[in-house]
Amino acid sequence: MRLFLIGFGTVGQSLITLLHQRADDLQARYGFAPSLVGVYTRSQGLLYAPDGLDLAQLQACAAHYAQYEGPHLHDFQPNVDRTLRDGGYDVLIEASATDLQTGQPATDRIERALTSRKHVVTVNKGPIALYYPRLRELAREHGVHLRYEGTVMAGTPSMALALEGLAAARIRGLRGILNGTTNYMLTQMEQESLSYEQALAQAQALGYAEADPTADVDGWDAAGKASILSAALFGVPRSPQAMSVSGIRHLSAADLAEARAQGRRYKLVVRLTPEGGQVQAEALPLSDPLAGVMGGLNAITLETDLLGEVTLIGSGAGGTSTATAILNDLLAIHRAV
Ligand SMILES: NC(=O)c1ccc[n+]([C@@H]2O[C@H](COP(=O)([O-])OP(=O)(O)OC[C@H]3O[C@@H](n4cnc5c(N)ncnc54)[C@H](OP(=O)(O)O)[C@@H]3O)[C@@H](O)[C@H]2O)c1
Repeated sequence: MRLFLIGFGTVGQSLITLLHQRADDLQARYGFAPSLVGVYTRSQGLLYAPDGLDLAQLQACAAHYAQYEGPHLHDFQPNVDRTLRDGGYDVLIEASATDLQTGQPATDRIERALTSRKHVVTVNKGPIALYYPRLRELAREHGVHLRYEGTVMAGTPSMALALEGLAAARIRGLRGILNGTTNYMLTQMEQESLSYEQALAQAQALGYAEADPTADVDGWDAAGKASILSAALFGVPRSPQAMSVSGIRHLSAADLAEARAQGRRYKLVVRLTPEGGQVQAEALPLSDPLAGVMGGLNAITLETDLLGEVTLIGSGAGGTSTATAILNDLLAIHRAV
């Protein structure tokens, strides 16, 4: 399996590390020996080697292709469309920055790969949140796989659970904590009595929150994940803008303490059914499994007809976690082809 990677930041670099570290294990357990033939980023251009790039070297030179030695082609201003159409690769891995307003340029690139009969694995939320039905149709038409496990809860297998593990049941609805940054902040506000501003500064210092935290604290990142779940689980495309979305900016440590005194705990909760979706801060009763999910963890409770509620809790972000989702998707394609 020849891989072509777009985006070489936290996730892309973690994937290279994982592929390198696990090479023997993947070969021994699954007979899986992928080779990475190309990496592309906006600022560094394209690094390409038809016989496979050296992962150890790539890991060492991280995002500075100029230091890469050995046979390769380095093009600062490549025609990415042409590479995606003609390039000698089997799977496109989309790990570039998410744009939840337009889904671009990743959506066009994914379309180009699918129509060129290449499988696609994406952790970029924009294309799936906004254009999933069209992309799934393109994948079907061209007989290739489109997988996106890492777009929701990173390496914690929410999609595999809902779509494969619970395939026999009907999922009637779900609620989830799908943004680790806000969950971390709410935990700190409640347990350390931090103000909203102090909790945000701490999340930023730890690298959980971006310099511009809007997408996290105003609920848009969680809404993007709700869009993906709506399309994937219910077959109902629903953009983040089409949902009622609010965040946690209005909450204070005093609000959280008051809720706690009443046996409740504030969480930023996604609620979704085939009929509608919303993201808002809610004071959940402590008996709700989501109320016990603390720190940067994510969780999802699926309401099923055959099993009642099923809850999955785990990491929802981070390079290794998200790269694990990519690797699982690659293994699923490997098993299927
Ligand atoms: N990190 C996580 O915990 C996590 C979890 C789940 C999903 N994701 C998703 O995974 C993706 C990557 O996240 P990350 O944390 O690795 O981000 P990151 O560290 O900011 O890296 C982003 C990478 O994308 C490249 N890029 C940006 N715009 C591009 C464009 N127009 N064309 C080609 N390359 C472009 C950047 O290259 P330049 O530096 O050259 O611009 C950089 O290599 C995002 O879509 C994110 O939402 C991340």
